[in-house]
Amino acid sequence: MTPALASLRGQWFVACTAAEVATRPLARTILGVPVVLFRSAGKVAALIDRCPHRNAPLSQGRVVGDLIECPYHGWSFDGAGACRRIPGMAGACDHRHQHAEAAAVVEREGLVWVCVEAAEGAREELPPHRHVALADSRFDTFLWAATAQCALVDGLENLLDACHPHFAHAGLVRRAQKRRSVAVNVRRDADGVEATYLENGRPDGLIPRLFEGQRLTSIGRFFPPSTAQLEYTGAGGPRFLLTSMFTPCDDQTVLIHSCISTPRKLAPAWLKRMILRAVFGRVLRQDQAVLRMQQENIARFGAAKFTSTPLDVMRPHLLYFLSHPRKQDRTDYAGSLTMEL
Ligand code: FES
Ligand SMILES: [Fe+2]
Repeated sequence: MTPALASLRGQWFVACTAAEVATRPLARTILGVPVVLFRSAGKVAALIDRCPHRNAPLSQGRVVGDLIECPYHGWSFDGAGACRRIPGMAGACDHRHQHAEAAAVVEREGLVWVCVEAAEGAREELPPHRHVALADSRFDTFLWAATAQCALVDGLENLLDACHPHFAHAGLVRRAQKRRSVAVNVRRDADGVEATYLENGRPDGLIPRLFEGQRLTSIGRFFPPSTAQLEYTGAGGPRFLLTSMFTPCDDQTVLIHSCISTPRKLAPAWLKRMILRAVFGRVLRQDQAVLRMQQENIARFGAAKFTSTPLDVMRPHLLYFLSHPRKQDRTDYAGSLTMEL
């Protein structure tokens, strides 16, 4: 785990959907830390995935009532990690010093957020609700989880990059033949960065033609530590919103929970869901393939060696937030450029 990523351990990341924490233990790795999730007294609990006795993975055990039972000798732990049962031990179980380590966990709007930092008080605030459109009644929102084989910054850059769709998603998102001159305004403050592309035209990709009319702007946003958002806006407001919460599992794998939102009334929700699943499944597979290809080639050379231009709008800001984890250390930025999009 690179030191920059390890420094994010006091932050919150989406581990899974609430529905995924059912009757069996669920294993996740967040920033290199193995975690097990289960339900205890109806609430989602998260423990570091290591039994304090002989370090067997608790995620390979089972949930019995409100406790998680280790698969090796059957020690059982509650949602806070307290050891509540040691099979074979005569008398009451009071072994608080043998507790499993707990991770902080919060369930919100169908998502389970986890902070793996053990030290009390080192935790940052949970990212605010406005990043997720799930609770916004103006939109039909679908949740979609996927993984990608890439470094966190490379995955975030891919989602927010305006220059790859002409090639990696040719015809689906954009076409390479008909580029137009577009002004881009970039604004950054302590809470995030936003790049607004003043498109003022009818997009030519298949997906925008299905879901949009005239597009005024496309906006790429990043909210630290790891939420990326795309918004396509027409005369009546947002026509399409994609909010992707990235969870770095390790240096080379990310888990992505995406909320795909379109305004209500455009079409029945089930129909939109079906079409979005089909077309975005394709786009997602194309991005997964290109990210894997990038990562495997970097591995072939042993290290990354990048050259960038002003067209790589977001990467400097992604790196800026990664190297400035404390809000009070961040400065504002404003800039603009023109590109052929
Ligand atoms: S390793 Fe878990 S009970 Fe022994
Ligand atoms: Fe893409």
